[in-house]
Amino acid sequence: MKRTYVIDTLKEIGNTVKLQGWVDSKRDHGKVTFIDLRDTTGVVQCVGVKIMSELGTEWVVELVGVVKARPDNMLNDLMPTGTIELEVLEYSVLNKCKELPIPINTDGKEINEESRLKYRYLDLRRQRMAKIIKLRSKLNGEFRKALEEHRFIEVETPMLTKSTKEGARDFIVPSRHNPGKFYALPQSPQQYKQLLMTAGVERYFQFARCIRDEDLRADRGYEFTQLDLEMSFVSQEEIMSAVEDIVKKAVTSVGGKLKESTFPVINYYDALNKYGADKFDLRTDTEKKEGVLAFAWVINFPFFKKVDTSDAAEVQDGKSGWTFTHNPFSSPIPEHVEWHLQQKNIDKIVTAQYDLVCNGYEVGGGSVRAHNPEILKATFKIMGYSDAEIHEGVGHMLEAFELGTPPHGGIALGVDRLVIILAGEDSLKESIAFPMTSSGRTAVMDAPSEVSEKQLKELHIKL
Ligand code: AMO
Repeated sequence: MKRTYVIDTLKEIGNTVKLQGWVDSKRDHGKVTFIDLRDTTGVVQCVGVKIMSELGTEWVVELVGVVKARPDNMLNDLMPTGTIELEVLEYSVLNKCKELPIPINTDGKEINEESRLKYRYLDLRRQRMAKIIKLRSKLNGEFRKALEEHRFIEVETPMLTKSTKEGARDFIVPSRHNPGKFYALPQSPQQYKQLLMTAGVERYFQFARCIRDEDLRADRGYEFTQLDLEMSFVSQEEIMSAVEDIVKKAVTSVGGKLKESTFPVINYYDALNKYGADKFDLRTDTEKKEGVLAFAWVINFPFFKKVDTSDAAEVQDGKSGWTFTHNPFSSPIPEHVEWHLQQKNIDKIVTAQYDLVCNGYEVGGGSVRAHNPEILKATFKIMGYSDAEIHEGVGHMLEAFELGTPPHGGIALGVDRLVIILAGEDSLKESIAFPMTSSGRTAVMDAPSEVSEKQLKELHIKL
């Protein structure tokens, strides 16, 4: 007999079905045992006469029985399947379950982080977390639909790559075949996506895993996911308008309520004056309670800033004392291209960068890129790079820019952050299936961990 999902039992009144899932709860009334059976689609009440009393909560079982309409006085409007129940004829146990090390019938916030992440596979069974996992999947699906409508093509880019400058430290990977040489894990697909524009892809997207060694915070992880995209032959306004349409379609399709149907656009300096930061929350107290989404664009950022000497990555990038505020591959706004090329009025150069903020979070950032090699070279000159260093760092990009690269630009949206906003949560840990602890240890499996002498030797590493 084929398996029926719990939610589909509603259509099977009078029929014999086979259900599989977990014992969500059990009530013994002498000869009659009630269990609530849970699968990925929901929970249904199942009744056994003189059977099933051995079952415990969270046991994995298979039940065969007849779907019956409940009598009028037994209806439960709190359950989607509250109009029916399964009269169990036979059952089998697929797996037992010992006493759970953490409770899973609460929202889980009372449990310490270490236990929740050690038993993440149990933690994810709780209703709140299962809902978030589904929300994330649905959001990704809606993004894909909207992107396809806009003619975007999904392309994957490498994970073992060379350092990309996103303003954080790299995670590096030793190369067994090249003693003393290392790959870097991508901080973002920035350069590859631009090269896809050279390749004629025109509209690229990817749910890209990005890896950055930076200080961990509630909204910042070592590993995170971007909805990364890039477009050719478009102006800044056209990119922002396409992205806005895609974001609106995706978030409203998963139940998000927008504060404004057109996202307001705010100048960086106006944002600083008005809100004291370049990310801000435009919601009223009532809108906060109602879970409204207040998106806004921030534009006209300065291209460069003075290096913060306490930030190792900035010191490394900004050899002249100047470093980029957002993205070294950006273009200055058209009015400032001359200053940029002449490396003057550096503090006044504005970049064609736009950030998307929502409910106090920066949920996206992108720009129109420099597709003219002279502009990209000037950016690195301003940061104090020699010709040889520029060649070593971005020579491949400069070369591509002389081989028919169209004008282009794009954005990356922080998927983990969008999910916590949509789910009404406040930490990335609630939106990622297997997040790290606050101190950077992995969930369930114990990493970072030591490796064997033999492995180190093969990798030409001495500790
Ligand atoms: P940026 O570095 O601004 O841009 O990243 C884009 C978006 O990704 C999210 N984000 C993060 N989320 C969780 N943890 C982190 N450590 C983290 N870092 C960033 C944010 C952010 O807005 N290549 C450019 C994009 C482009 O120009 O197209 C980039 O990576 O929501």
